[in-house]
Amino acid sequence: MPVRMAVPKETASGERRVALDPTMAERFVKLGVEMLVEKDAGLSAFFADDIYAKSSRLVDHQTLYAEADVVFKVQGPTLEEVESLKDGSVLLAVLQPHRNLEVVKRLRDKNITSFAMELIPRISRAQSMDVLSSQAAVAGYFVALRAAVLASGFFPMLTTAAGTIRPSKIVIVGAGVAGLQAIATCRRLGAMVEAYDIRPAARQEIESLGAKMIDTGVNAAAEGGYARELTAEERQKQADVLAKHVAAANAVITTAAIPGRAAPKIVTAAMVENMKRGAVIIDLAAESGGNCELTRPGETYEHNGVLIDGPINIPSNFPAPASEMYAKNLFNFLSPMIKDGALNLDWNDEVIAKSALTHGGKIVHEPTSKLVG
Ligand code: NAI
Repeated sequence: MPVRMAVPKETASGERRVALDPTMAERFVKLGVEMLVEKDAGLSAFFADDIYAKSSRLVDHQTLYAEADVVFKVQGPTLEEVESLKDGSVLLAVLQPHRNLEVVKRLRDKNITSFAMELIPRISRAQSMDVLSSQAAVAGYFVALRAAVLASGFFPMLTTAAGTIRPSKIVIVGAGVAGLQAIATCRRLGAMVEAYDIRPAARQEIESLGAKMIDTGVNAAAEGGYARELTAEERQKQADVLAKHVAAANAVITTAAIPGRAAPKIVTAAMVENMKRGAVIIDLAAESGGNCELTRPGETYEHNGVLIDGPINIPSNFPAPASEMYAKNLFNFLSPMIKDGALNLDWNDEVIAKSALTHGGKIVHEPTSKLVG
């Protein structure tokens, strides 16, 4: 019998993405699996039921959970959704285990094989499965456009009969996947961009996009290409140099993160006090606490003439492309394990083993297992 895979409608408030778009649902079906899609699952991402119906069976919420062997989600499930999963079934989603320990315990107790997509190792073979990168690219693009709309000036230099308008100065903090996409987007709009990252390797990427690297003399490269937390002395050194650039900027876009930790506070309240009226701060890290001391997650407000914006669930603002990219990541992850409609997980595969959260009635992700105790 072919394995039965399923795409439920996302239930988290404000979530507009769907785990599989119709094209990827069809590609799974071509591998011999049966696909169930919950009615209206893709509607908020502009994918109508009748397009899914060409390859998949449209079902209601209860039927989907009662019948599915494999469930694809974007956001982790609620406890109620975990209860609805069939015992022993497979779940793929962005599970954020450290924030959802009760869910993890229930997944374990129900013998669910769950994969946390954000745990996929960042090795070159797995780049096409990397949901952190695909969604960060969407987020970086969005925050640049948001800065362009909210800033008081134009991004490009405009020469008109009424005179010449100077281009905006943008400072981008954090030049990972999202930051680089923000740099590229601001540059395409014609702004003058300066960027800063504590990994020296970022310099080449920043400069190749036509931006200038802000050099603070602090190097904090750590394992796996990520950043480490800074010492108090390093933080001060960073702040002294950054403050000057932030004060001159029309827009500051912050994207800095340290995996598994609260976002580092980089733009201090004092730096904001010195910013120009009409300038904006777009804090992409708002959801994990924010890179600016004054960020209020989910809010946009004015402080001394400076607009501070803390958007959350940013990829959901472009639900169609974000879903398409996420779906492609899922397909690239799971399709090599499907033969003639049957799913055979290869536990010798590093990508499978490292992204698994629960399996065989156990929490197989070490750090989460420790947290649960
Ligand atoms: P991230 O979302 O964890 O962090 C964003 C950026 O913030 C990083 O560049 C980090 O260095 C920077 N940052 C952290 N603390 C900072 C501070 N105090 N001040 C300034 N900047 C700070 O990182 P992301 O975007 O997920 O990627 C991190 C690295 O991983 C990059 O080098 C990227 O190229 C690499 N990568 C590798 C992949 C692969 O080989 N499969 C896939 C995706 C990313």
